[in-house]
Amino acid sequence: MATLTETSVGPRTYPTTTAGPTAGTLQLRGGDLCATPIVRYDQGTVFGAEVSGIDWSKPVSPEVLKELVALQDKHGVLIFRNTGLDNAGHIAFTQLLGKDLEVNPFFYGREKDRLGEPLLWDVGNIELDGSIVQPSSRRWHHSRGNALWHTQRSKYSLLLSHGNPVVGGSWTHFADTRQAYADLPEETKARLEDLVIEHDLWHSRALAAPDVFTAPLPSELAAKPPAFHRLVQRGPDGRKVLYLAAHAKLVVGWGLEESQKLIWELIHHCTQPKYVFSMEWMGAGDMVWWDNRQSMHRSNLYTPTMTARDVRRTTVIDDGPLAWGVPKEER
Ligand SMILES: [Fe+2]
Repeated sequence: MATLTETSVGPRTYPTTTAGPTAGTLQLRGGDLCATPIVRYDQGTVFGAEVSGIDWSKPVSPEVLKELVALQDKHGVLIFRNTGLDNAGHIAFTQLLGKDLEVNPFFYGREKDRLGEPLLWDVGNIELDGSIVQPSSRRWHHSRGNALWHTQRSKYSLLLSHGNPVVGGSWTHFADTRQAYADLPEETKARLEDLVIEHDLWHSRALAAPDVFTAPLPSELAAKPPAFHRLVQRGPDGRKVLYLAAHAKLVVGWGLEESQKLIWELIHHCTQPKYVFSMEWMGAGDMVWWDNRQSMHRSNLYTPTMTARDVRRTTVIDDGPLAWGVPKEER
């Protein structure tokens, strides 16, 4: 049995955390694992942890995997540094976490994809020809939506970095939708309990890049149609969460203006600094594994002078009862 030790985190890597003093020790079996909590609340719960001590050169054992999933359910976001994983190792680890991975709907053939792998989403800033994405490109405008707080209806996302660190830094920011829900006044919770939200990726794209995405292409609309989800859900550890994102367009039965007012009030509530931390990408092999059902995330906006940011994502399809949202007859 190995001890899961806890250490403090530096201000550079998680600059917006409100992490307090560390306390307590968790036990993990099957490896020399060390977990560093990132945001620790007064109630003793934690959001995010940096985990070390995994031998990524071989498949993760079932025992360690079980402990990691339990840690994930509790913490919502796990960060691993310097894993040494390549595309195949990235996909293989993800396949241990769920039998069905999402196939990238924007994958139009190996010759039209920089990574040539339909289970990987190329979410970096590099064009097919190797050049850095420019402000005139559709990819640039699409990326602007990733800088808004969002989540998607999948179980897990795992983002792995490749290549050199981005000159000037590169971050992914995470917000805890569990503690944010828990801290709402009881009368607000009652008002939100039965609401259903229409999520539309192209709504957030239009918010972030109105010149381009007010009229998405038919192929884009077909790849990502709207979905309907309950606003208040239960996360994997049984705690209630607010399930919302910049994709959230309408409260079912409400008008656009009053829907957007409520949705953005709640997004601002969830993204107060006390619920947020920022992961800096330090180098190739850094990997973050988050649970889309109990967090939101966002990237930084691209800048015209940024260097290559080569991050690639795998996604595990949600296999839970809420995965496909609210059927039409129940809305
Ligand atoms: Fe994202």
